[in-house]
Amino acid sequence: MNNETIDPGGTLMEEPLLRVDGITKDFRIGEKEIHVLKGIDLEIRGRETMAILGVSGVGKTTLLHILGTLDRPTRGRVAYRGQDLFSRSDKDLAGFRNREIGFVFQFHYLLSDLTALENTMLPALIGGMSKKRAEQKAAGLLRELGLEERMAHRPGKLSGGEQQRVAVARAVIMDPRIVLADEPTGNLDTRSAGVVEDLLVRLRDTHGVTIVAVTHNPQFAARMDRQIHMFDGRLLEAGNPGLQPTTKGV
Ligand SMILES: Nc1ncnc2c1ncn2[C@@H]1O[C@H](COP(=O)(O)OP(=O)(O)OP(=O)(O)O)[C@@H](O)[C@H]1O
Ligand SMILES: [Mg+2]
Repeated sequence: MNNETIDPGGTLMEEPLLRVDGITKDFRIGEKEIHVLKGIDLEIRGRETMAILGVSGVGKTTLLHILGTLDRPTRGRVAYRGQDLFSRSDKDLAGFRNREIGFVFQFHYLLSDLTALENTMLPALIGGMSKKRAEQKAAGLLRELGLEERMAHRPGKLSGGEQQRVAVARAVIMDPRIVLADEPTGNLDTRSAGVVEDLLVRLRDTHGVTIVAVTHNPQFAARMDRQIHMFDGRLLEAGNPGLQPTTKGV
């Protein structure tokens, strides 16, 4: 796939990893239609880290789900490395997600009957990796995340912070280009939250991924390259002139 385009000036420009154009999302509840996303434009580059902030109910999870193709927008377009995503079938998108996107949610969604190792291996097995290779890779990741002693434990025997670290290992086992995290430390005590935050911030360097994290924690957000605020269905970027108090005429 060609990931590069020539701009009118003749310079080689890299296509953004994700380009979001005019996304809207409406939900219908009974008779009532609510307009959650009202026109979102966003470019996310490879190996960028980005926080999405905003009050409860503003549409952060809705946006993250669309970026991760878990949900389709009502209108608008999302291109991944220049390729339109939502013209693809659900089946096609499921394969795309498995290969290219890692998810970390507020609730770990680990399967309770599987060990930490088996939970981590799962996306790799679904993606067709051999059991032996998946096992090696999962074990390597869990070791890297400080869970060497916890591999054979089921989620019920792990602390909240450990469960979330397993979820991070599971998110990166397929070497995705992007990790989408939705309040990944929302359920953790301050110390465990700090460990998981450190780990997520480091993933860009350790695994070369782009990180988009929804968070209510301004300190965590400040550690990202970009901070995007959602307000009334639209985005405002910190550092964006629209957000700065005007000094005109002063
Ligand atoms: N499947 C759905 N059907 C109907 N309404 C929905 C659906 N999903 C989300 N909504 C509504 O869309 C709005 C945005 O929800 P969303 O979960 O994206 O907010 P959020 O910013 O993630 O909030 P929080 O910080 O509480 O997680 C809310 O009013 C919510 O009730
Ligand atoms: Mg949410």
